[in-house]
Amino acid sequence: MKPKTIASCRIVVLGVLIFVSFTVAWAEEMTLPREKLIALFPNAQNFKERKADLPPEKVTSIEEDIGTKLQPDTLKPTFYIAYKDNKPMGLALFLSVKGPNGAISGGVGLDMTGKVVKVEVHKHNEAVGIADETFLKQFSEKGVEDKFKIGEDIEPVAGEQAASQAVALMPKKTLAISYALFLKRPDPPEEDVAETYEPEDLKEVMMMMKDEYDLIRAYFQSGKNSDKATAIKAAKQLQKYTRFIADFEPPKNPNDTEGYTYFQKKFDDAIREFAQRLETEGISETTQKQWREIVELVNTTHLRFSVEEIDLDEDLN
Ligand code: HEM
Repeated sequence: MKPKTIASCRIVVLGVLIFVSFTVAWAEEMTLPREKLIALFPNAQNFKERKADLPPEKVTSIEEDIGTKLQPDTLKPTFYIAYKDNKPMGLALFLSVKGPNGAISGGVGLDMTGKVVKVEVHKHNEAVGIADETFLKQFSEKGVEDKFKIGEDIEPVAGEQAASQAVALMPKKTLAISYALFLKRPDPPEEDVAETYEPEDLKEVMMMMKDEYDLIRAYFQSGKNSDKATAIKAAKQLQKYTRFIADFEPPKNPNDTEGYTYFQKKFDDAIREFAQRLETEGISETTQKQWREIVELVNTTHLRFSVEEIDLDEDLN
């Protein structure tokens, strides 16, 4: 059976979703905690306040995520969206957690991909080290998949295990609340055939490439936006399969290794540029031209290195 091609790339997209689950409209007049916000997002030009309501079922899932009960004051969290050039850069949440010597309050900034930008501790009755940048910078870049566990992925402040764990709960809570409300969790990684693939011969590689080729061709024929993502993935997969071509000798002109390498490289470059353009432009004059050139290049390659005549547009199934 022919292996199925499964594409792998995916990015956590926050942009559009950021607004979806909010239940309350913009506050007209706001008194923003500007200094604290600037400390989290120094490059932001403005901030907007958004209030959210956590429905009971979300509260349960967040509590499961963080392994502790949510404080009543977090049930109606107020978020601040940071903007630069009218584009959202991320969000901030101010919250407090229970430390061994009382409440610890602070702020957490997340970027648009759901990663922690910064954690700040504002008020506390613990050792000074827990508000120190050396300790706090460990949280940056961490995301919803991280544990935020002292001794595992977080080094505690010396002698301050419990207070350090309490501070680590701030970004963990912020992430859990943000994801429950409006961030999309990354999909589980899909198996990428090209990563583990060990083709038996060149014909097998070509059959895999033909599957991807057909997806791109279908997109150009239909012009449907719904086929675009599939075509982009297919172009990236095509590029991945190119690296297997070098493992096999062509049946025709096997001694022309220089020429064979030249065509592989040319195809690799062309398909990479095409994949990038397709992502930004979809079907455009440029991508149509690039695709025509790729098809021509492949036809020339086949004429030179394949004994059999190959019609790329022929249905092989
Ligand atoms: C969009 C890209 C490509 C597609 C869709 C494609 C498709 C195909 C197909 C359908 C075959 C016939 C397989 C068979 O007889 O079962 C084939 C054969 C072949 N292709 Fe490609 N190809 C592509 C790119 C390339 C490139 C870049 C090279 C080399 C630089 C190449 C070299 C060959 C060779 C040497 C054969 C003959 C294999 C043999 O008979 O053993 N192809 N290709």
